[in-house]
Amino acid sequence: MTVPGARIVAFGHYQPARIVTNDELSKLVETNDEWIRDRVGIVTRRIAAPDETVADMAVAAGGKALANSGLSADDIDLVIVATCTPQSPLPNVAAQVAARLQLPAPAAFDLNTACSGFSYGLATAQHAIMAGASRNALVIGSEKLSDWTDWTDRTTCIIFADGAGAAVVTGSENTGDIGPVVWGSDGDKGAAIRVEGRDGYLQQEGQTVFRWATTAVAPIALEACEKAGIKPAELAAFVPHQANLRIIESVAKKIGAPNAVIARDIVESGNTSAASIPLALSKMTERGELPSGAPVLLVGFGGGLTYAGQVIRCP
Ligand code: UT7
Repeated sequence: MTVPGARIVAFGHYQPARIVTNDELSKLVETNDEWIRDRVGIVTRRIAAPDETVADMAVAAGGKALANSGLSADDIDLVIVATCTPQSPLPNVAAQVAARLQLPAPAAFDLNTACSGFSYGLATAQHAIMAGASRNALVIGSEKLSDWTDWTDRTTCIIFADGAGAAVVTGSENTGDIGPVVWGSDGDKGAAIRVEGRDGYLQQEGQTVFRWATTAVAPIALEACEKAGIKPAELAAFVPHQANLRIIESVAKKIGAPNAVIARDIVESGNTSAASIPLALSKMTERGELPSGAPVLLVGFGGGLTYAGQVIRCP
């Protein structure tokens, strides 16, 4: 059965126990707390235990979202895990999550658009629900970037971190609970964030990505507002991918959302790629910062290069 729209019912998140400070990193590479705070905005980040996997974190976050949703395992018929850091390509993470949460035979696939992954996953779940191909979906962003980080490279090891966030999505009579997605890619710039070969590490041309993010992302965000019929002044919150606090603040200024709470989870959680948006959303919801029904603008951007954004109504 097709439905007019889809909505988010609940969020959940998981962060590894280990907190790594800037001072700790300054013992590994030539850096310092002041440089990291000034240039990136990160104060602490969470790093997973050696035996903790993307699937473990996805199960923890997904299980919490499911518990918060009031739905049962039997209700979920679609699982999407956005990740670019699975431990291995097979079996996919989504099918592992489905088995471990004892979901009976849902469609289950992984999606890799790096840092825009959650917004891609949310739109895909929305479209599946509206088309009648799914009734209730679990959308998870989970990353263990520490496995793909060169801990001797000061340009990347100070940025990337681990964690997971999740949302349960269901059908809605309203078309605007998850607004139209604006998504796309700029593959010509793909080499700006890359892993070379099977044994490679994450490398990025920081300034190229910085320039792209601070020029290309604001128009995408504004287009998502326009498609949703929401003015930036009406936004209750702006939750962009948590890449760099300077990028977040530059984009926020450009879109001009004077009444919006701006997500700044990067300060305590670092850059967790596909996990960063649902992680921030889940924590903001727990803190009571996002009133039910309030319009929130999401915009993911990064590896590919890819981007995706939409306006959602809070559960
Ligand atoms: O999530 C995926 C998307 N990724 C992004 O959005 C990342 C976008 N890019 C960035 O966030 C920033 O470009 C970085 C945080 C990666 C780098 O900041 P920056 O302000 O662009 O620094 P820079 O690369 O221009 O480097 C400035 C200086 C250089 O030294 P010299 O050549 O001026 O002497 C670097 O070698 O800072 C040096 N540097 C550092 N110094 C202390 C680079 N990394 C560090 C460090 N500590 N960790």
